[in-house]
Amino acid sequence: MELYLDSANLNEIREVAALGIISGVTTNPSLIAKEDPTVDVKERIKEIHTLVGGHTSVEVVSTDTAGMLKEAEEILKWLPNATIKIPMIPTGLAAVKELTRQNIPTNVTLSFSATQALAANNAGATYVSVFVGRLDDIGYDGMSVVRDVRAIWDMQGLPSLILAASIRHPIHILEAAKAGADISTCPYKPLMQSLKNPLTDAGLKAFLADYEKWKKEVEKVG
Ligand code: E4P
Repeated sequence: MELYLDSANLNEIREVAALGIISGVTTNPSLIAKEDPTVDVKERIKEIHTLVGGHTSVEVVSTDTAGMLKEAEEILKWLPNATIKIPMIPTGLAAVKELTRQNIPTNVTLSFSATQALAANNAGATYVSVFVGRLDDIGYDGMSVVRDVRAIWDMQGLPSLILAASIRHPIHILEAAKAGADISTCPYKPLMQSLKNPLTDAGLKAFLADYEKWKKEVEKVG
């Protein structure tokens, strides 16, 4: 399972990109709205793409098909290999169909059920983002949607890549991998938490202390 960073924050992206564990970044209007309002959004996203290199999802803010297509055309002028992120609404599906006809990659966002994911796949979506955490928030089992989508996809050989989104903690990352998601897009905090284990830190501390002790013994002898 590939990992993307779900962020528009340059410091986070710079730090995580340097680790070599992410192959893309997803942004959304809310993530962009958290950043400095004086920053030019296009320049910010271009910088993000330069830092990470791979997948960059850029979301449209129109809700009508013509507006989404116009925005996609604009986005592709300044970021030719952007993936256009389109909301899972009927007018969005029509936009996905047209963008697919033009061979433009799309990421259908705000999918909360397997039937929505199926419609997105049928419209031609390259990626379908299933929002796990937001379903958990309202008392549903968000990951069960990822599991259903994977099962349907495998049974029927469907092509859209399954992207587990709205990740809240490291267990979501683990469960998304076990559910067979192709990608998990994670905010900075759960991604960094998923790298940590107290036994790793304690083990390293002991290794280094033992080595120092041994070095002193060697110096004494030699
Ligand atoms: C996906 O691409 C979205 O940006 C995303 O994961 C949003 O999740 P959240 O706002 O529920 O954290």
